[in-house]
Amino acid sequence: MRLSNQQCAAYREKGFVLLPECFSLEEVELMRSQLDLVFSEGGPGLVIEKDGTVIRSVYGSHRTNKVFGQLVRHPKVLEPAVQLLKSDVYVYQFKINAKRAFVGDVWEWHQDFIFWRNEDGLRSPRILSVAIFLDEVTEFNGPMLLIPGSHKEGMIDVTARDTELADHYQEDGEDLDRRNWISNLTADLKYSLVRDDIARLVRRYGIEAPKGPAGSVLFFDGNIAHASSNNISPFDRVVSLVTFNSIENLPVEVENPRPEFLVSRDFSPVIPIQEGAFFS
Ligand code: SIN
Ligand code: MN
Repeated sequence: MRLSNQQCAAYREKGFVLLPECFSLEEVELMRSQLDLVFSEGGPGLVIEKDGTVIRSVYGSHRTNKVFGQLVRHPKVLEPAVQLLKSDVYVYQFKINAKRAFVGDVWEWHQDFIFWRNEDGLRSPRILSVAIFLDEVTEFNGPMLLIPGSHKEGMIDVTARDTELADHYQEDGEDLDRRNWISNLTADLKYSLVRDDIARLVRRYGIEAPKGPAGSVLFFDGNIAHASSNNISPFDRVVSLVTFNSIENLPVEVENPRPEFLVSRDFSPVIPIQEGAFFS
């Protein structure tokens, strides 16, 4: 599936493009039918909300679950990514953000690329993410908020924060590696943007909250400033997110590489499936 010239131009200008109802209801149902399974698998890729019980995210399910393995190869997701990054791509990261009704917590304002540069040795922001809505996303259930055009300002350097949760894990005797990366995934983000920068960007560019039925797909730039507020509604907001990196943008080696389920070092170009094969 190819984006039109207009959609590509919108992506370059705003740093994102939304494709409403891109996946059919049958395709959405197939993905939703896997959620209990991937959430119950546990493992190190599972991140829990601050309440200690509700699942916030699960990472790396494209490697353990056939349907999500096919999703990252689905032409509706893969082909626009190849088109926008102008090269073959590999899966850098895969996650499902649950943002459950009543308890789903915030994602503070941030740019993604700073995490990938500082933690994983990525040199250029030739990388993008694709959010596939598995629930309807409305103004009520914590939609992603994006600052259109903010990607053009490039990466805004911020000092890494020693987050409360990292301390909490330390007290609990959680192993050192996990403590090092958990603060990239929780509500207390390690590289969140400072308020002055957020206010300046929003004054200049405004805020948009792309919304749409389940099956809608949002492509967004690695440097766009974004966030989402907590979900106080009675509606879940489950979204799966695939990050594709250009195979011409491989990271340099770092001292303490994060685990494979967080940042893949399998640089093989993703091969598309036939659309019909999603159900096979
Ligand atoms: C993200 O910033 O990676 C996800 C934000 C969200 O799920 O709202
Ligand atoms: Mn992000």
